[in-house]
Amino acid sequence: MKNILLTGDRPSGCLHLGHLLGSLENRVKLQDEFESFILIADIQALTDNFKNPELVKNNVLEILKDYLAVGIDPQKSSICLQSKLTSLLELTQYLSNLTSIDQLKHNPTLKTELVQKKINNLSFFSYPVSQAADILAFQADVVPVGGDQSPIIELTNKLAKQFNQVYKGDHLKTVKAHLSDCPRLKGTDGSQKMSKSLNNTIFLKDSIDEIRKKVYKMYTDPLHLRVEDPGHLEGNVVVYFLDIFDTDKVGLSELKNKYVEGGVADIFLKNRLVDVLEAKLRPIREKRLQLEQDQQYLLSVLTEGTKAANNQIEKTLSEIRKIFSLELF
Ligand code: TRP
Repeated sequence: MKNILLTGDRPSGCLHLGHLLGSLENRVKLQDEFESFILIADIQALTDNFKNPELVKNNVLEILKDYLAVGIDPQKSSICLQSKLTSLLELTQYLSNLTSIDQLKHNPTLKTELVQKKINNLSFFSYPVSQAADILAFQADVVPVGGDQSPIIELTNKLAKQFNQVYKGDHLKTVKAHLSDCPRLKGTDGSQKMSKSLNNTIFLKDSIDEIRKKVYKMYTDPLHLRVEDPGHLEGNVVVYFLDIFDTDKVGLSELKNKYVEGGVADIFLKNRLVDVLEAKLRPIREKRLQLEQDQQYLLSVLTEGTKAANNQIEKTLSEIRKIFSLELF
């Protein structure tokens, strides 16, 4: 039997290049090796978007299209919808009994997010417990996450051990974080992280015109005022993205040398980057448009994936319920 892999995303916006590099490409690779479940975490997205449920609902299908367009194969990966997996809420409740408020207060991931998002409702505060419940209900062996989420994995394992100790048995299984080895992608503004809330993303569904607009706005080199001036590579956002996405490494290295010597216009670099990104994103965009025509298919993928997920988590929950409730009916 294959080991189980669980990942997920909050459907609060479409996926972007940062997701592609940081997780999606990895998922496509891993889906052959693992029995994969991909959770569209709409319940979690509502914790900080509760005033706008339409946004969350609309983005479920957007994210699903992104997944399928990048090559996630529903035959290998069950794509499932969190709000239709109500047993996850039940396990969240049981795990909340074991979670202290201080433990959450000191969770580094949560601490940062609470400050950034300026919200303090109870559901957001306790979302790490809900995420632990997701992971433990699926009996996941691995969870690929970015480094910033590793405190949540630690909490998950702590809760699993504590649960097994208190209720005497091997009810819940600890999990391994599968840290992605791809560096976090910078934003188009050169800041540390590409993120929708920072408004510095290139979305997988962006048209060539949108890509061009975003690339043309990128910083190059403030000292490179005339074409013949020598250009600098360090801190040059266009060069940063070329280094990552340009597959013609020899051509790129020649171009960079010329740029440093002087005589290459910034717009030349930018147009090259537009071409490189368009080559990467065109097939994804085309697949996405094709999927858009087939709502029936999209819904069937989600329905089937959610059924498979429900089967998986019921194995865990049916055992756990015996601890807490009489089996009357
Ligand atoms: N917190 C994750 C994100 O924002 C989404 C998520 C919810 C998740 N439940 C999960 C990820 C379980 C991995 C495993 O992207």
